[in-house]
Amino acid sequence: MRKSTRWLVVGGASALIVAACTPAGDDGGGETAGGELVWAIGGAEAQPGGVHQQVAELWNEENPETPIRIELLPEAADQQREQQALELQSEGSGFDVLGMDVIWTGEYAENGWLESLEDVRDEIEEASIPGAFESATWGGELWAAPYNTNAGLLYYRSDLVDTPPTTWDQLCQTATQGSGEIGGFIGQGAQYEGFVVNWLEYYWSAGGELFNDDQSEVLFDTDIAARATQFMADAISDGCYAPGFNTAQEEEARNEFQQGNAMFMRNWPYVYSLIEQDTASPANGNFDIAPLPTFDGDGTISALGGFNNAVSAFSDNIDAAKDFVTWAATNEEAQSMLATEGSVPPTMASVYDQLADDPVMSLLGEILPDAKPRPPAPSWNEISVEMQRALFPAVNGQTDIQEAVEQVRSALEGAVE
Ligand code: GLC
Repeated sequence: MRKSTRWLVVGGASALIVAACTPAGDDGGGETAGGELVWAIGGAEAQPGGVHQQVAELWNEENPETPIRIELLPEAADQQREQQALELQSEGSGFDVLGMDVIWTGEYAENGWLESLEDVRDEIEEASIPGAFESATWGGELWAAPYNTNAGLLYYRSDLVDTPPTTWDQLCQTATQGSGEIGGFIGQGAQYEGFVVNWLEYYWSAGGELFNDDQSEVLFDTDIAARATQFMADAISDGCYAPGFNTAQEEEARNEFQQGNAMFMRNWPYVYSLIEQDTASPANGNFDIAPLPTFDGDGTISALGGFNNAVSAFSDNIDAAKDFVTWAATNEEAQSMLATEGSVPPTMASVYDQLADDPVMSLLGEILPDAKPRPPAPSWNEISVEMQRALFPAVNGQTDIQEAVEQVRSALEGAVE
């Protein structure tokens, strides 16, 4: 087991007193060591000033004996997973609390990387909205505490668009009309997990499914998949997508829209408060949100996203880490802070009652009940990588669409065998 040394820097640069806190003995885990907890979490919300930092500060005020510090992970979900996996594979105790994308629960639990939360299950289950709670379980056991849920929204420039489109075709018609003066539609088109999320939203909104409920059977429809892929390929070639779509992750998309370079954007709710705070943005005061369109204009479909907090099985401070993740799931002040300070959707059911007038949270009330989880399979990451490899070049006109969707079908079939 790798010995982890944490450096505690006390005082200014001139009088640097450095204390090495090396866990005693054999990295046993489980004992309450006191001292600082490390919360490995990424994304814009974890940056200095971001809402996860504010949640950490609130905890620290109330729990000075076991303060928590954010270890900032990269923005892209795939890279966050890689960094956590590196530490956990080597049984390193560097991370006590894992800010874990909802799609990693099965994989991490199967790998033995997580401390079970069964002993605090009732408290957490009672507080949390069912979809978020579900995403934190695997094999009937609770492995993480829900923290924030997520669904995709359509952001649009309300000074340029009267009524938000309800079909993808309408959206592209409007988006291409404006081309020349302002880019059309920006989303997450770079090759990573966000691309798969965007692709799935087209595929699902055309009626496609990946698996049956218990993932024993592949329900993949190559015709629907080809339609979704063709839509994206056309959106690139006919200028429906704003320039830079195929290199954009969440933050690049936000920057384009916030700087006034795109008429429409697919993004998560966190973006709302950041544009509202940016008084210099051309979009500030000139944007609104709507449900994502579908192909036939009925209803809306979004991928269910979000982050749960898990306790690393290799933490030297398991009890305090468990207290933190339980608190972050069940403390009303922390949970409502997510919404009010960061427009990040909380997972605590009671908090939504207080947020009825909040424009983002009330729209999410319509969208979240039908938001679709990506399959919680331990092999989701491999499936996702295969989908990225097959579909990204096809969307970009480099490979044949039919062959690409056949490749996805084989990957899904391989996953159930
Ligand atoms: C958001 C979602 C997460 C998803 C990721 C994809 O962070 O909360 O579930 O995997 O975006 O980019």
